[in-house]
Amino acid sequence: MAINYTEDILIERSETSNIANIDFNNLDFGRVFSDHMFVCDFKDGRWQTPKILPYQPVTLEPSAKIFHYGQSIFEGMKAYKDTADNVFLFRPTDNVKRMNISAKRLAMPEIPENYFIDGLKALLNIEKDWIPTSKGSALYIRPFMFATGKGFHASPADSYRFIIACAPSGPYFSGKVNVLIEEQYSRSANGGVGFAKAGGNYAGQFYPTQLAKEKGYQQVIWTDDNTHEYIEEAGAMNIFVRINDTLLTVPTSDRILDGITRKSILSIAKAEGIKTEVRKIKVTELIEASENGSLKELFGAGTAAVISPISGFGFKDKDYQLPVIENTYGDLLKKRITDIQTNQIEDAFGWRVKVQ
Ligand code: PLP
Ligand code: COI
Repeated sequence: MAINYTEDILIERSETSNIANIDFNNLDFGRVFSDHMFVCDFKDGRWQTPKILPYQPVTLEPSAKIFHYGQSIFEGMKAYKDTADNVFLFRPTDNVKRMNISAKRLAMPEIPENYFIDGLKALLNIEKDWIPTSKGSALYIRPFMFATGKGFHASPADSYRFIIACAPSGPYFSGKVNVLIEEQYSRSANGGVGFAKAGGNYAGQFYPTQLAKEKGYQQVIWTDDNTHEYIEEAGAMNIFVRINDTLLTVPTSDRILDGITRKSILSIAKAEGIKTEVRKIKVTELIEASENGSLKELFGAGTAAVISPISGFGFKDKDYQLPVIENTYGDLLKKRITDIQTNQIEDAFGWRVKVQ
């Protein structure tokens, strides 16, 4: 069914707004939420009437399968405003496709693209004033779906809820991060769910990340589950390495999330004439490059953090510092991608989508 977002979505406006209580110049990441959310239930084998409702708690039965078997997936996107108050999304259909890849892997129903996109546009038309414009900030958008169906039987639920909630947000990290290369724990395995944005993938990262934090690191660099010899992801970001003048990242696989920022950065880097390579990277290669001075930059890339520079990494009780250099690829690529997102430069790639 096609939905026409001005007619087919049931809209219940909030009687009050929280917007006056928000300090838009000092935004943290994902801590305050806009007034409304988009909600659509799946039951009796089909998606029901989509709604926009005041942001509010969700009430579920204790036997809802989300609590027991973790059928829960999400996406991360942002809405941006330019100086003329136009609203933009960045490659939104890629988020829909990835949400549905996650849904399939978790035996959940796929959300029709128009429900997701038209619902989001309708929501943004109502929440326009919640999009921050200060440097480094945006309206973080969290589409998510979870099992509402009841029962302790370990099988897929028969009903689900899809919600889109929004949080005006500042930067995910405030400065450079120091990371620990993981040798024991894994975030994903061959044949597992690492390529999906499944809630459980993140729950599984918290404990090893806590241990790394106790040792003075802010993030974990995940390595392959089999040998722990190859780097895979930087926390909840894809990883980039600059060796001399070449920008490297690792190939995606069923253990690695196919990041939209990652693939955008690869395209922008190529357009900027930066030599790129997509190949496996050994931890020993990083260490050798650090020791011989060819390791110039290390950064994570993702929607929330955009590009997050790494100041140093720890491995087997030894710390390696990245050099402090000028004109980094990280800074250049971050500027280019955010300028495209916020309509400050031409978008030669066709990624920017105006919300109207
Ligand atoms: N890797 C993981 C595990 C993530 O959770 C994310 C965040 O979405 C990314 C990479 C980056 O993906 P994207 O650039 O699409 O946000
Ligand atoms: C994002 O970058 O959008 C993510 O989903 C990562 C999340 C853990 C904040």
